[in-house]
Amino acid sequence: MSYKVAVVGATGAVGRELLKTLAERGFPVTEVVALASGRSAGQQISFGDRTVLKVRSLDAHDFAGTDLALFSPGAAISAIHAPRAVAAGCVVIDNTSHFRMEPDVPLVVPEVNAHALAGFRRRRIVANPNCSTIQLVVALKPLHGLARIRRVVVATYQSVSGAGKEGMDELFNQTKGSYVGDAPTSEQFTKTIAFNVIPHIDTFMDDGSTREEWKMAVETRKILDPDIAVIATCVRVPVFIGHAEAVHVEFESAISERQARSALQHAPGVIVSDRREDGGYVTPAECAGEDAVYISRLRRDPTVPHGLAFWCVSDNLRKGAALNAVQIAEEMHRQGLLAKQAA
Ligand SMILES: NC(=O)c1ccc[n+]([C@@H]2O[C@H](COP(=O)([O-])OP(=O)(O)OC[C@H]3O[C@@H](n4cnc5c(N)ncnc54)[C@H](OP(=O)(O)O)[C@@H]3O)[C@@H](O)[C@H]2O)c1
Repeated sequence: MSYKVAVVGATGAVGRELLKTLAERGFPVTEVVALASGRSAGQQISFGDRTVLKVRSLDAHDFAGTDLALFSPGAAISAIHAPRAVAAGCVVIDNTSHFRMEPDVPLVVPEVNAHALAGFRRRRIVANPNCSTIQLVVALKPLHGLARIRRVVVATYQSVSGAGKEGMDELFNQTKGSYVGDAPTSEQFTKTIAFNVIPHIDTFMDDGSTREEWKMAVETRKILDPDIAVIATCVRVPVFIGHAEAVHVEFESAISERQARSALQHAPGVIVSDRREDGGYVTPAECAGEDAVYISRLRRDPTVPHGLAFWCVSDNLRKGAALNAVQIAEEMHRQGLLAKQAA
């Protein structure tokens, strides 16, 4: 069984990674169609080592005959075109925030809640969570199975690729410009990002938190457990690829550091890399291009009755976006959920 697959937003940071990941993992395709805005129509883009695709305009595209569409063109564009793809008979896996909190759209991280895919049939849309949420829940799931999690306090250190290709260009241009005395111009970020950190991602909400922080809380509850309290502070840092998180977890009952370490070591998608010595931890630069969620600096939090603290790093374009979406597609293939439209 193989499928006609459309990648929507194919010229973007996530879209390019989607094409790469589909090819690398040998997802069964009969044909891949690359879609983006009219601005990119006619451009060439690689799919694997041997195939070059010509980018087509999303607006003019007819999804009839397409089995699966992987969307990452931004929330407003997915809102319009994902339902259009579904109406044409396609299954949609959407990377944007648009559908994530809709009750009849599963929000899935395969290592954590693959069972939720059963609920996709009504809308035929599956949502991919926010990049910061994905790596957090992959790390929390094995711990929650040991001693229920009551509360999570997390501070993120998020790379500029989380803001797309233009975010990466802005860090590059500001950094380069700083060496030749150019005054920095900021369009993607609210302050200079080169040699700086910015405690603000997405828009502000009435309670003073940002939408990125809100997403981490509500998405974690939807995916893992509605009773977990989450408070996040999301920060943009001058790193190209790879999000890091300092995570503090409070449990309902006792959990030892040894038990937690063992559970994480055996958890799917997790690599524990944690030596208490210089360099004995993973940083974003080392996880770029890798699939895993890396855990370092695991230790007891003595300030609460049952607490642990750790450092968590992952490639936001891979596990935080493209890889997770392709793993969802693979899981749906395995469960026979893509079969209806298959060629
Ligand atoms: N970056 C991450 O780490 C990450 C992680 C998880 C989720 N996401 C989500 O994924 C989405 C894309 O992120 P990104 O980082 O890939 O952004 P990006 O690099 O800016 O890419 C945006 C893509 O959307 C396309 N696009 C823009 N307007 C369009 C239109 N009117 N019609 C069709 N295509 C259009 C762009 O095509 P053109 O090149 O033609 O403009 C490009 O292919 C966002 O919703 C983001 O929140 C991103």
